[in-house]
This record gives sequence, structure tokens and C-alpha cells, in this order.
Amino acid sequence: MNILFCDNPFDNKPTVETDYEVEFISAKQNGFTTQLFSYESLTKDKDAEYATRRIKHSNTLQKIIYRGWMLKPNQYTLLYNTLLTKNFQLINSPTEYQNCHYLPDSYKFISAYTPKTTWLTVENAQVNYDEVFKNIAIFGNSPLIVKDFVKSQKHYWDTACFIPSATEKNNVISVVQKFVALQNTDLNEGLVFREFIELNDLTTHSKSGMPLKQEYRLFFLNKQLLNCYNYWEEGEYSTDEHPPLDLFMGIAKNIESNFFSMDIAKTNQGKWVVIELGDGQVAGLPDKGDPLEFYELIRQHC
Ligand SMILES: Nc1ncnc2c1ncn2[C@@H]1O[C@H](COP(=O)(O)OP(=O)(O)O)[C@@H](O)[C@H]1O
Ligand SMILES: [Mg+2]
Repeated sequence: MNILFCDNPFDNKPTVETDYEVEFISAKQNGFTTQLFSYESLTKDKDAEYATRRIKHSNTLQKIIYRGWMLKPNQYTLLYNTLLTKNFQLINSPTEYQNCHYLPDSYKFISAYTPKTTWLTVENAQVNYDEVFKNIAIFGNSPLIVKDFVKSQKHYWDTACFIPSATEKNNVISVVQKFVALQNTDLNEGLVFREFIELNDLTTHSKSGMPLKQEYRLFFLNKQLLNCYNYWEEGEYSTDEHPPLDLFMGIAKNIESNFFSMDIAKTNQGKWVVIELGDGQVAGLPDKGDPLEFYELIRQHC
């Protein structure tokens, strides 16, 4: 089995991107073959041939797992197809990648277990607010959170993420405007609005002041749970309390992806919910997660 990492764009020699060095070493120590490609050549120059020039053609079809920065679905597709010409097949097809990368694509798999969600596409950062208000009318005057198809601006919680009431139009516009401005050219596809639910408190983020909640990140490989990690590095997680993993393993069975993350949380009513899914190849290992153990688990489940 192969693991694909981004190379270090500041080094002429083929070395791994520094942020993934520990994962790269951990993968090697677990017996994986590591491969490198240029993220910059793929995403900026759109030159997948050049980006993958160091990967030699394989005589037999081999599976490969990417671990690195997020890719837009069209970039992932380009990488997927180019690797296939060299006889390497990424663990998720482009459709499987998008299933967990874009919340609107994930929603069908998790709708019974996640806050009510609605979305609209946005072109050239031009938000049609009539469409927004039509879209969010289903929430009445509930509080909401806004994000794009992939990411939020959670560290700007009060100004660009949390909307106290869906009916306070000026406030909705101000939060959405700030969110769109912060996303800038990185806005992924459009806007997603979600009903805000009170999650169990953990602490507040020491730098941004964002409220940190009782959240966990699960990884699933080939429909099997790899591990459950505390999501936040800060805050005291009770060691007596464990999330109901059977519930989430059941949900995972129907998710059309071979490798994904599932972020879960406990509400202040004691209910457990899914916050979002992510493709396992671009989901970060939480800070307290042990990379050596992570790759050992991947090895055992692939
Ligand atoms: N519907 C919601 N209700 C309450 N809190 C939420 C809701 N959705 C997200 N959050 C909180 O906001 C944080 C960021 O949201 P998330 O969807 O995970 O965005 P990102 O993709 O940027 O991580 C979550 O970790 C969670 O604490
Ligand atoms: Mg998140």
C-alpha cells in the first residue's frame, strides 16, 4: 500500500512538506511505500503530469491513499486520473471524495443525525440575499451558523459564523458579508446554513476566544472505525464518558466513501450528533492523535 504526500515546495530535493513530516515518517515506519507530488503544480499550474513526475509507472494496479492539503473536487479528479495512468488508484473515486468533502453531498447520509441544513450556490462572491432569505425561511427565527460547502470561519465566531436569529435580516447580511469577505477567493461553491444547536461546553479557544465544545473526530477506513480522537487540544475531556460509537459505526456503514472522518458532538441536552464529514485523505489528525498509531491502524484496516 502507498501513501501519497505533498512535497516541500521550498526544497529542490524530493522531500515531504514539513507539516506532514511526522506522518511521512510514521507511514514509512509502518511499512508503507511513500510517494510525493507537487501540490503547487497540481493546484496552481494545473499540470498534473509535472506534479506527479516522480511517481514511476507501476506494472500492477496499486492502491494509494493521499494525506495532505484539501483539494477541490476538480483538482482531486485530475490527480485521480493522472495517477491511474501510472497504475495507482486513490482510495476514493472523485465522487466518493466529494461525498464527504462537500456538506451538501454528505447531507443525504447524515441528515437524521445532524442539524437541519440548507444551501445555495454563489458565483463570483455575488450573494443573492433574496435567495438567502427564501432559503433560510425554514428555520423560523432560530439561530444559525453559516459556512461554505467545506469550511466555516469558526475563529470569527461572532462576526462571520454565528447568526443569532434567521429573521434578523441586517444581522444575517452582516455575518454573511463578513464570511464571504474572509473566504475571499477560497469560497467553496456557495453558502450553507445550519440550525444552531447548543453543544456541551468544553472551554474557549485561548487565541480566538471561539467556544470549544465536546467534539470528537472519528476516522473510518473501509467502513471500519479506526479511532476516536478528542477534537480539541485544549479543554478537559472527561475520561469516564465515551461517545456511543456503535451509533456512529451504524451511520458510517451507509456513507459512500472508503476513507473519511466524522466529527461528532454531544449537545447540552445529552444527544449525540454528527457535525460534519470529511474525506479521510484531507482531514487533519487531531493534535493529540499519535501519528505512529494512526498509520498502524491504517495498515491493520486496509
Ligand atoms: N449547527 C451547529 N450548531 C452549533 N454549533 C455548531 C454547528 N455547526 C458547527 N458548530 C460548531 O462550529 C464549529 C465549526 O463548524 P464546522 O462545520 O466543523 O466548520 P469547519 O468545517 O470550519 O470545521 C464546530 O466545530 C462546532 O463547534
Ligand atoms: Mg469542523
